[in-house]
Amino acid sequence: MRTPLIAGNWKMNTDSESAAALASAIAARAGEFSAAELLVCPPSIFLTSVRDAIGGAAVGLGAQNMYHEPKGAFTGEISAAMLTSINATYVILGHSERRHVFGETDEDVNKKTVAALGAELKPIVCVGELLEEREAGRTAEVIRSQFEGSLAGISAGDMADVVIAYEPVWAIGTGKVATPEQAEEVHADLRKQLVDRYNAELAESVRILYGGSVKPDNAAELLSQANIDGALIGGASLKADDFLAIAQASSATV
Ligand code: PGA
Repeated sequence: MRTPLIAGNWKMNTDSESAAALASAIAARAGEFSAAELLVCPPSIFLTSVRDAIGGAAVGLGAQNMYHEPKGAFTGEISAAMLTSINATYVILGHSERRHVFGETDEDVNKKTVAALGAELKPIVCVGELLEEREAGRTAEVIRSQFEGSLAGISAGDMADVVIAYEPVWAIGTGKVATPEQAEEVHADLRKQLVDRYNAELAESVRILYGGSVKPDNAAELLSQANIDGALIGGASLKADDFLAIAQASSATV
């Protein structure tokens, strides 16, 4: 049984005060959602204050990005070891905004994934097709190639610590959610790739999240799909009530 992972990607939102307040509001009620694993990914500058606001509550701490080098002259960047040193346990890698706004390639995502795993930080590796790719019937091909490229050379042992997030680019921040059938089709195909590359047992244990306009009112239907094991939530993760309502929807489907 895969425990659903409900992850909030706060992106470049909140400020010092509101980040701590949002984390506190989530932490205060986290005990009600033991059937799901909760994770918040604030802007990196607020990671430590969010960690402190979470305190002993069952809410994980994740970063939104990192650089693959361990240290050195890389102005503005953050390493995997820096993240683990402040008790972050996850890092989102290859988010569509990193790929499309900042030009990250599968090769970049792969280097980061290897570095994160080397530092015992669990990567949430994002894949997703553009609208024109879906309309051209190329979704499966694009997702397969991102899977191959971003996860190249990852051993079965390491893959057990990887979370995959399918986020159709056309559904992110647009209010246009993939239908449960559209999402499940891609998730099932990703699971099959895991079986083909590794084995059925490992494939069954890897969580594949859906992301793209997940809201309290569409979460239950998406999360009830056989191969959807949680959600990566942008907009709706900025309100504690909405984020927790999605966690509630995931608990109901376990
Ligand atoms: P959204 O973002 O929920 O605002 O669509 C999802 C994401 O980018 O992870």
